[in-house]
Amino acid sequence: MKLLVVGGGGREHAIIKQLKKNETVEKIYALPGNGGIAQDAECVAIGAKDIDKIVEFAVENNIDFAVVAPDDPLVLGAVDALEAKGIPCFGPTAKAAAIEGSKVFSKNLMKKYGIPTAEYEVFNSPEDAKKYVEASDTFPMVIKADGLALGKGVIIAESKDDALKAVEEIMQDKVFGKSGDQIVIEEFLTGPEVSVLSFTDGNVVVPMISSMDHKRALDNNMGLNTGGMGTIAPNPFYTEEIADRCMKEIFLPTVDAMNKEGRTFKGCLYFGLMITPKGPKVIEYNCRFGDPETQVVLPLLKTDLLTIMQAVNKGTLNDVKVEFSNEYACCVVMASGGYPVKYNTGYPIDFGKAESLENITIFHAGTKLDDGKIVTSGGRVLGVTAVADTAGNARDKAYEATKYINFRDCHYRSDIGKVK
Ligand code: AMP
Ligand code: GLY
Repeated sequence: MKLLVVGGGGREHAIIKQLKKNETVEKIYALPGNGGIAQDAECVAIGAKDIDKIVEFAVENNIDFAVVAPDDPLVLGAVDALEAKGIPCFGPTAKAAAIEGSKVFSKNLMKKYGIPTAEYEVFNSPEDAKKYVEASDTFPMVIKADGLALGKGVIIAESKDDALKAVEEIMQDKVFGKSGDQIVIEEFLTGPEVSVLSFTDGNVVVPMISSMDHKRALDNNMGLNTGGMGTIAPNPFYTEEIADRCMKEIFLPTVDAMNKEGRTFKGCLYFGLMITPKGPKVIEYNCRFGDPETQVVLPLLKTDLLTIMQAVNKGTLNDVKVEFSNEYACCVVMASGGYPVKYNTGYPIDFGKAESLENITIFHAGTKLDDGKIVTSGGRVLGVTAVADTAGNARDKAYEATKYINFRDCHYRSDIGKVK
């Protein structure tokens, strides 16, 4: 089979490494891929948002199956466009991807179908939003841009002034462009966060092993929000009892709700959950695999990924037994100093003996090949994942591997998986 994977980060690298294990796969193209993915697939310089070129490439190269991994092309309708040309895909249609593409849509969906989430109000004008903020006396308050915003569209405002400033920036200064035409203002929830990625074909929903992201840039959850500085799986807060409740109160009702709305979701549905004192609630949905959650979840997957993805596409997921190993994984993200704000790229990476260590996989996120050498090319550069028999051993191993890897201004957190 000839496969195509849209995207070029650590998540796509993890997906490609799993797909490669299937013996029927003769070729994988990554659009655009990156320096590390180039060792596992053929990278083609077509951007993940360039839907016309992606479709043209897929048709010309007789692609048998396509995986669209990032949020942008999914929301822009990459799957609809590929399937219109007869190319089967893993990923939701644009209509279904709205579950991530519009926070107003997803909040209204949860309200309509009684799915537990934070209380909220929707605003279409800055004047109304400001009036609401002025009249409130409960802070922090959470302000969210409606549309995609490179993972930066959520602001936790600690005071009235902060909240007014956030409304102004999003709705008037348009720092996230049209994504800020509408906003959601919601109640601040507390409790441990859990990421649950699931496979769903619209009929059944199969949760993957749970994971925990570390979103802040610095140790002890200090610093700015990032795309994720590290992950562990499984998530220690996700007990069997919580998992049962999530299945009944959140996962099944969500898949059902999307069907009832005529927006059947097929692909990876990501539940960002908070285990509040009143039970699990949805913080956000994503219409795709998480990054860097995928870098700890897929290394623990025992079942063939392509088989699962094809079953999701055909609506026969019920026939596949999806199994995970009972080991533990830890991924430490090595980033460019200054990320998520301002950073330099183009620095050579020295891997030392890290790549030859046992049970270590180095996923490339922001790297490229320059004259045959791997250099940095993004904010998050590498995801160093270790798999081991205990959570502590996985963490120790991942950190041991990071010691051998060097590039200029490298920054990583030293407390991934140190759960208090
Ligand atoms: P998101 O960009 O939607 O992943 O949100 C970023 C982070 O903001 C989440 O991981 C949470 O830590 C936090 N967050 C979002 N919504 C809420 C909320 N209602 N209450 C508390 N924290 C929240
Ligand atoms: N790591 C969070 C996300 O993928 O949205």
